[in-house]
Amino acid sequence: MQEKIRTLTDGCKKLIGGCETARALGELRARILGKNGELTALLKGLKDMPDDERPTAGKIVNEAREALEREFAAAAAALESAELKAKLDAEKIDITIDSGGGVGSLHPLTLMRRRICDFFTAQGFTVCESPEIETDYYNFEALNVPADHPAREVQDTFFITDKILLRSQTSTGQIRAMEKMRPPLKIISPGPVYRSDDPDATHTPMFHQLEGLVIDKGIAMSDLKGTLDLFAKEFFGENSRTRFRPSYFPFTEPSVEVDASSGSGWIEILGAGMVNRNVLRMSGIDPDVYSGFAFGMGLNRITNIIHAVRDARIPFENDARFLRQFG
Ligand code: DAH
Repeated sequence: MQEKIRTLTDGCKKLIGGCETARALGELRARILGKNGELTALLKGLKDMPDDERPTAGKIVNEAREALEREFAAAAAALESAELKAKLDAEKIDITIDSGGGVGSLHPLTLMRRRICDFFTAQGFTVCESPEIETDYYNFEALNVPADHPAREVQDTFFITDKILLRSQTSTGQIRAMEKMRPPLKIISPGPVYRSDDPDATHTPMFHQLEGLVIDKGIAMSDLKGTLDLFAKEFFGENSRTRFRPSYFPFTEPSVEVDASSGSGWIEILGAGMVNRNVLRMSGIDPDVYSGFAFGMGLNRITNIIHAVRDARIPFENDARFLRQFG
């Protein structure tokens, strides 16, 4: 009996070591310890043994069974973790590998900003960026918009304190430039601006503008017209012309809204005018000696017109299907 058990146990241990899958191991376990298993048969055979041999034999068989159960459990655990590891290795995603999207590209707005800056710098303008976080003075007061002025309402922005805000227009760049430099002055000032508008097809709470300012002796409205005519030809086609419509801005007098003609008709492209004498005076420039023109365009607006983007929110959504078209 003892002999039989040892042979069975040793043989079984060897077979356990050879099992490569949990399934094979389960089948082996059934063959030895299952209802009709080999060791179970020995256990069943105990009842036919003589009374004096049965207790010892029973002990041996039970010990062998327990030992084999432990072997099976250990082998099962080892196989399970090996199988899990193999599965994880097979399913592993290597996040360091390029997904096939290729190299990114500049945003259409960045590309347009560069094109427009290149256009103006080629004509002698200097790019002067100015802060996005501004004081009430630069955003309103110095631009001839005092505290109770109705023009503040259409440019409602985000206030950080009573006097500090996110600028609502790049016209602040005019004031900063006049503070730092003396005429003759020829600058553009591009960058983001903010307004507390709910996003819709024509509004986003942040967008980009580009301001222009020219100050010298004898600057006239015809200089503004000439500059913008060239701009229209460059960006809306060789046959494009500009049209001035009377308008109102606190910092220019007279003020105009400017349309450019394109194949399909007139499109409003920016606001402009002759720098208001008050603005010059507040910046310490004598309006009897110097005059100037200013203009401010929406960079998003121009970009969207040129690329026929119909919803102002789209360029902010980072949809690769949109962005890839400009790469
Ligand atoms: N700052 C104006 C706006 O945000 C745009 C503007 C109009 C700028 C006329 C100018 C200008 O420099 O002369 O609506």
